[in-house]
Amino acid sequence: MSTSGELEARATAAFATQFGFQPTALGIAPGRVELLGNHTDYNGGLVMAVAIDRFTVVAGRLSTGRSCRAHAVNFLGNVSFDLDKLERSESGDWPNYVKGVIWAIEEAEDTPLTSGFDITIAGNVPLGAGLSSSASLEAALAFFLLQAGLVPGRAISHYRGDSADSARLKLAQVLRRSENAFVGVASGLLDQFSSLFGRAHHAVYLDCETLEHARLPLGGPGPAIIVCDSKTSRRLADGMYNRRRAECETVVAYFQGQRGFDAVKSLRDVSLEELTEHWDRLDPVGRKRARHVLAENERVRKGAVALRAGDLVEFGRLVSASHASSRHDFENSSEALDTLVEAAEASPGFLGGKLSGAGWAGCTVNLVRVDQATAFAESVRTATARKLGITPEIHICHAAEGALGREIG
Ligand code: GLA
Repeated sequence: MSTSGELEARATAAFATQFGFQPTALGIAPGRVELLGNHTDYNGGLVMAVAIDRFTVVAGRLSTGRSCRAHAVNFLGNVSFDLDKLERSESGDWPNYVKGVIWAIEEAEDTPLTSGFDITIAGNVPLGAGLSSSASLEAALAFFLLQAGLVPGRAISHYRGDSADSARLKLAQVLRRSENAFVGVASGLLDQFSSLFGRAHHAVYLDCETLEHARLPLGGPGPAIIVCDSKTSRRLADGMYNRRRAECETVVAYFQGQRGFDAVKSLRDVSLEELTEHWDRLDPVGRKRARHVLAENERVRKGAVALRAGDLVEFGRLVSASHASSRHDFENSSEALDTLVEAAEASPGFLGGKLSGAGWAGCTVNLVRVDQATAFAESVRTATARKLGITPEIHICHAAEGALGREIG
């Protein structure tokens, strides 16, 4: 694993090779794992996540005129575009995320960026694995743009450096909009929020309805956060995410019919008791999805209490209950993810484990007693290889600080 310092050095060196100058500023932002609150964010629910010490770094400097060039070290990819002609490319690749951030910041500021720029992007967040490599790219780019003084307006330009939480929250919303409206991914606020609000030794909590948020102690030394990457691709599942959103909507529509549009804006306005009461009249698929979402909200609430009390055993139990609910009610698990969770349950130091993020493929996250992290990793690797014939990639992670920008040199 490369550290953030090594990544910064890699992005800086790649910039000099690619463009023949030294970069003047950089932005760095972590990936995240979701701990509790699976598919709750776009349902006006509660989420808990942890920013992890896997990062994206964007290093760059201003260019002359309005042209921009971006070089992505990991993809060996280059793209050039004109700041005044931001067009989404159909290939759905990383350049859309870059252009989307510019577009959304300009929209929020109601002013164009002051100048074009050149950047290199380097990162070690596993791609397409459910660890929010895209949100970390968005946040790193935003902090580069702010640090380099390219954002002239008033709405978000005071985000520079380690600024106030209210400004970070606004930026998270702007970055989410870049994904929703420009890239075309209908995701919630979880990913951008986590990348911006992360803190060492802490989980992050967000109420997606009221935007109330907190950082909750994981304790010292705290559990190891072990991510097991099934190496199965998420692209296969892309359409499923929107389908689940629509299934949740059927339940919202039913209760709107009962109680009116103003009373029911999202699943957040429906209680578990009410769902049970109307169970037989609800769509048989939608009601299971809704049960998962509402039970997840409860688990986030209880999880926050457990973390504040330093009760990692209870917290781990809630994390494992979340996986069971995803598996049976939300049906966004897979054979590979279930195998990883089962292997984890039988491994030393296990406190709790679940799929992370959208689901269907990608990663599981496990909380493990810190002194047993290595034995746990070995045990999961062996058991999964035996059962599935694939060797998962195991990342022993730590809670990390959220995005920031810095001058270089
Ligand atoms: C993806 C999305 C998030 C969230 C999770 C599921 O990671 O990007 O907004 O909906 O799935 O909890």
